[in-house]
Amino acid sequence: MQKNILVTGGYGFIGSNFVNYLLKNYDYNIKVFDKLTYASNLNNIKNDNIEFIKGDLFNKIDIEKALKDVDIIVNFAAESHVDRSIVDAHDFLNSNIYGVYNILDYMKENRNIEKFIHISTDEVYGNALNKKFDENSCLNPNNPYSATKASADLLILAYFKTYGIPVSITRSSNNYGPYQHPEKLIPKTIIYALLDKKIPIYGNGKNRRDWLYVDDNVKGIIKVMARGKNGEIYNIGSEIELENIEIVKKILHIMNKPESLIKCVNDRPGNDLRYSLDSSKLNALGFKPEVDINEGLNKTIDWYKNNKSWWYGKKNW
Ligand SMILES: NC(=O)c1ccc[n+]([C@@H]2O[C@H](COP(=O)([O-])OP(=O)(O)OC[C@H]3O[C@@H](n4cnc5c(N)ncnc54)[C@H](O)[C@@H]3O)[C@@H](O)[C@H]2O)c1
Repeated sequence: MQKNILVTGGYGFIGSNFVNYLLKNYDYNIKVFDKLTYASNLNNIKNDNIEFIKGDLFNKIDIEKALKDVDIIVNFAAESHVDRSIVDAHDFLNSNIYGVYNILDYMKENRNIEKFIHISTDEVYGNALNKKFDENSCLNPNNPYSATKASADLLILAYFKTYGIPVSITRSSNNYGPYQHPEKLIPKTIIYALLDKKIPIYGNGKNRRDWLYVDDNVKGIIKVMARGKNGEIYNIGSEIELENIEIVKKILHIMNKPESLIKCVNDRPGNDLRYSLDSSKLNALGFKPEVDINEGLNKTIDWYKNNKSWWYGKKNW
């Protein structure tokens, strides 16, 4: 029988790539649950074979209605932009912590759900100065966004230990690809370059990130759905580490635009210098990222070039 899967945050960046991948490759009965914040876009999924439920994770009644008859829940819904959390963290606490608590509380009382996959982030580990973080590394978040994600992770693990909730957590590195909101570094760079606008980079651009093409993250999440153990965390990284300035220069080079478009601006507070993941635990389950950085950037640039109406003239970035 077809399984019912609820994808929260399914109209955001990674959630919509996940839904589109499932629609193409699997036979699930898909429900998308989304509050439709500024970060979402209904055009991210062009398929009538899904059910859409507009709702807020912060609202217990919305959650109760959505989770009835669900076999699997994958929770992408979150406030996700660090800069916004520095200006005001209110919605981050509500969606990223209380929203997760509402799912857990439902699952504590209703045992219909076989599996809860929670999407977390490598940012919970904080600054990776001279090492890679594995799943046993300490949590050391340095900005309000990552503090809310770390809080949710701890709550989830506590619910697993206390009530046996069937849950696994994924912590991925920086994603990029189609449908990413233009406020994030890679789409912003591509769009500003297309418009010949100055591209702002924090500090000296030396912050290093591990860059993961979104389809690879989606495949990693599906691997955890299939083979991940309850109560376990799985890092998902690409091992492709580049400084922000290197990424921006690569994009400009591919687009044949001058580096003089780069403009360094004041660094943001609490900006971690490096994120770095050891993903060997998931690799041991058969996961391997497939998209190298040049292929991933080329695909992403082509997508933003070919989908101007998706981003042009939109507010909030
Ligand atoms: N983008 C990355 O590089 C990255 C890396 C690691 C982890 N993550 C995590 O992956 C998840 C998805 O990230 P993204 O980049 O796709 O985010 P996004 O901001 O693009 O999308 C978030 C989606 O969640 C929805 N949403 C927000 N609050 C909600 C609420 N209270 N109730 C229901 N829906 C709500 C929004 O409307 C939006 O559609 C997040 O949990 C994020 O922390 C992202």
